[in-house]
Amino acid sequence: MSERKSNIGSYEQRLPNFDWSLAEQELGYKKGDKINIGWYLSDRNCQKGLGMKLALIHEDHLGNVRRYTFNDMRVMTNAIALYLQKLGVQPGERVCIFMDRAPELYFTFQGILKMGAVAQPLFSAFGDESLFTRLDNAKTTAIFTQKKHVAKVRKILGTLPALRHIIIVDADESTTLKDRELAYNMEKQPRVEQFDAYPSTAETPSVLHYTSGTTGQPKGAQHVHYSIISQYLTTKWVLDLQPDDIYWCNADPGWVTGTSYGIIGPWVAGITQVVLDAGFSAERWYQFIEKHKITVWYSAPTAIRLLMREGTDIVRKYNLKSLRHLASVGEPLNAEAVIWSKEAFGLFFHDSYWQTETGSIVITNYPGMTIKPGSMGKPFPGITATVLDTKTFEPIQKSGTVGLIALKPGWPSMFRTYWNNQAVYDSKFKNGWYLCGDRASIDPDGYFWFVGRDDDVINTGGHLVGPFEIESALLEHPAVAESAAVGKPDPVNMEVVKAFVALKPGFEPSDDLDLEIMNFIRKKLSPLAMPQEIEFVKSLPKTRSGKIMRRMLRAKEWGEEIGDTSTLEND
Ligand code: PRX
Repeated sequence: MSERKSNIGSYEQRLPNFDWSLAEQELGYKKGDKINIGWYLSDRNCQKGLGMKLALIHEDHLGNVRRYTFNDMRVMTNAIALYLQKLGVQPGERVCIFMDRAPELYFTFQGILKMGAVAQPLFSAFGDESLFTRLDNAKTTAIFTQKKHVAKVRKILGTLPALRHIIIVDADESTTLKDRELAYNMEKQPRVEQFDAYPSTAETPSVLHYTSGTTGQPKGAQHVHYSIISQYLTTKWVLDLQPDDIYWCNADPGWVTGTSYGIIGPWVAGITQVVLDAGFSAERWYQFIEKHKITVWYSAPTAIRLLMREGTDIVRKYNLKSLRHLASVGEPLNAEAVIWSKEAFGLFFHDSYWQTETGSIVITNYPGMTIKPGSMGKPFPGITATVLDTKTFEPIQKSGTVGLIALKPGWPSMFRTYWNNQAVYDSKFKNGWYLCGDRASIDPDGYFWFVGRDDDVINTGGHLVGPFEIESALLEHPAVAESAAVGKPDPVNMEVVKAFVALKPGFEPSDDLDLEIMNFIRKKLSPLAMPQEIEFVKSLPKTRSGKIMRRMLRAKEWGEEIGDTSTLEND
């Protein structure tokens, strides 16, 4: 295995004269052609003779395994596309996917795209309020869900007039269908041999992924079908997927990693992937790798740190020799974790950096490149990345100086707008650069070193949560007068949510109230957004205009200098 040549070959040699048309050619696409992601993932692979190759090996939490070939995927996604058409769902309408990582999630995503609608995947652990905010904002027409999650949809249905269809994929004879509900059994549905994919072109909207910012409710990053060009080439060159690979991306498609590299990238490249629909357990994960002989694994720092905590003895109990390439994304991958992975698996985890908005990997470590543990690596060919001065927004020339990570717009998978929020989209650009909202420095060899976020967004276990969304939900609790949510350090999740809460008159701090508020947020928003700690305070520090000074509270948690507060006070 070690003699295998990487897809990228030499990074340096790929840089001069790089052009995305290379990926277009490999996908047989010419400017102005039709381009439909749904068609590319199954139909094209069948046309290329891969119909009988396994596309998906799926294992549920009980260990039940389901297998699907590319041809199974083609006819089953055709059936979903046809079903939506018959329901009257129109191209361009948003169709949400709100379920656990069942095969139905992976296939409805493609069926939606095949018939020209926009796929809106949401994390199934979201509570009713998180769900409502996103369905209401997108004016979603239909939602695919499962019995165990339908209660949350029912709860908010009255205030979602645009939501015409609630499609339950695991309904059986005993399920009583309520208002607007339908049952769709993917396995029993007749296979549809022929479906003409919607003739989308490069700029036709494809996926709408919600992501959190400092202010306001989450925003929908709008992607287009042309994104497949970047997703394909980064999958090939960064994840190094090759025809005989068995690939595992352990991200949930409620987040962008799970769609760009858990659906689109590997399948456009005709690769077999495995999915484990079960929570974290080191034993289970190693068993899974051994059982399916996984070769390439795309994971995340929090998971790696959890594995690290379990030690290397447990690694030795399993035969993990099949692994040949490891990559990571979502949060800073600390040097210790990189070094540990070499010791545990004989392989480095290759850090990669990108965002919901970028749609694909933009800065990363390539197979064969010298790894500097703790660094995010170098920009993907075709991506111009730099760090900008925080005041002038000009590129910083001096290496080692911290600035704002910025990218020159124009790569294929860049988001095209925030849904119904062009103003926030526009605010992300300065001097012709797209600002990622992160800080980093670049060393003399051109390696990027992540420093931190440049806003108040909390990154917990690789998932972004917006303080505003948490604070708004906190205010709905009868005891809460005002609140602030910030990230506090955590050895595994990098940071977790901490809430500062001032109570209304008549309420006293207590352990019971503490727990009650935590659970209130967990149910309304999600387990990730739930504060791990609540500090009761008399009042919160504010600017003269009344804005809560989150940065000051955050700095205290991290033991950092509070810095210049004069600007904040004049805010
Ligand atoms: O702050 C950066 C952090 O995660 C943010 C993007 O989050 P999201 O849109 O949810 O997408 C996550 C998966 C692509 C970034 O702005 N982030 C992502 N990757 C890294 C990272 N921080 C440090 N190192 C990384 N490799």
